[in-house]
Amino acid sequence: MRRVYLDNSATTPVDPRVVEAMLPFLTEKFGNASSVHFYGQEARAAVDHARREVASLINARPNECVFLSGGTEANNLAMRGLCEAHEQHGRHIITSAIEHSSVRGICEALEKRGWEVTRLPVYDDGIVRVEDVRAAMRPDTVLVTIMLANNEIGTIQPIAETAALIHEERARGHKHTWLHTDAVQAAGRMTVDVETLGCDLLSLSAHKLYAPKGVGALFVRRSVRLTAQNVGGHQERERRAGTESVPFIVAFGKAAALARAELAERVEHMRRLRDRFEVGVAATVSDIVFNGRRDARLPHLSNISFRYIEGEGLLINLDMQGVAVSTGSACSSGSLEPSPVIRALGRTDELARGSIRFSLGKDTTDADIDYTLEVLPRAVENLRRLSPLYQKALAEQACAPV
Ligand SMILES: Cc1ncc(COP(=O)(O)O)c(C=O)c1O
Repeated sequence: MRRVYLDNSATTPVDPRVVEAMLPFLTEKFGNASSVHFYGQEARAAVDHARREVASLINARPNECVFLSGGTEANNLAMRGLCEAHEQHGRHIITSAIEHSSVRGICEALEKRGWEVTRLPVYDDGIVRVEDVRAAMRPDTVLVTIMLANNEIGTIQPIAETAALIHEERARGHKHTWLHTDAVQAAGRMTVDVETLGCDLLSLSAHKLYAPKGVGALFVRRSVRLTAQNVGGHQERERRAGTESVPFIVAFGKAAALARAELAERVEHMRRLRDRFEVGVAATVSDIVFNGRRDARLPHLSNISFRYIEGEGLLINLDMQGVAVSTGSACSSGSLEPSPVIRALGRTDELARGSIRFSLGKDTTDADIDYTLEVLPRAVENLRRLSPLYQKALAEQACAPV
């Protein structure tokens, strides 16, 4: 059976060039980067080189990048580390209604410890409004955390404008508000430049850019003070204790260098295929809704709600035909919770439950899109044929006066 992988927002395959770069650090170059001898120095030099590559990808200074285990840990260090270091200045956080579950979970954990959290709406286009950030700002706001691009619908948030607002507030003497952005989905799919964005903290994860799972980085602007969450070692300038995973860090460095060199080409390739896919779906499948503002989205992602069917059913049906996609709904305790992100767009539970994320990668081909466009309309049709809601809608249409 043909296999088509359209779930690159969940994870990406490791690029063979990345594997090649990391392999020697699993075998002959196995040193601990903290050791003083030759092996240690070799490992240290490799970590330093990778740090420069990751810093270049986001236009940061190398010493502003902390290596850690991935996006979730980066979000934890950014948010908990900042809040713990600054709680004497206030206990208020501003975030959006469509953050990744890691950011949502950290906000809930902080709420339990007495922090107040304001969750901003994203309206029907999936975008936070800067005026809403302004209106939510309080003298005790310590952290504003808004993702750079959403993982389910791909919408790009106004981070530079939010930073400008925070800088204005700082100029007015309100010096204790910092801006964190989760750029896990954005990196390698759009330009991510910490100077243009003006953020204080930015999270990255390597496995979304063709490197292995289990490594990521947090950008921490030089002026920002954080309380380490992992203690008991001097690594990463006391910000993240634990022996560095040299092979994974080397892999991340190589993947970052490739992402920077190939960004324009990858973006153009994914956008062309994604747009072709959307035109094809719109022409062959009725009763669908595209989610997320279409002119402010990542180039690789398409999120579509299919009326009258459950996304999970469609996912399984497509998987049986070799096409891997994902839904936003969480299958918890036997009941399908509709995706909170799609619900935040103001969509009904039915549309939220019927949503599917198709996320392309740099290696997706025209033939992959052709195959998906061949099987998808059939899969939708088959499921709808079994759907009482669809049958009822058809009957109502047939009876409607012309
Ligand atoms: C927006 C966003 N933030 C954070 C994460 C978590 O990253 P990791 O899997 O490296 O922990 C993800 C992963 O899906 C994500 O999409």
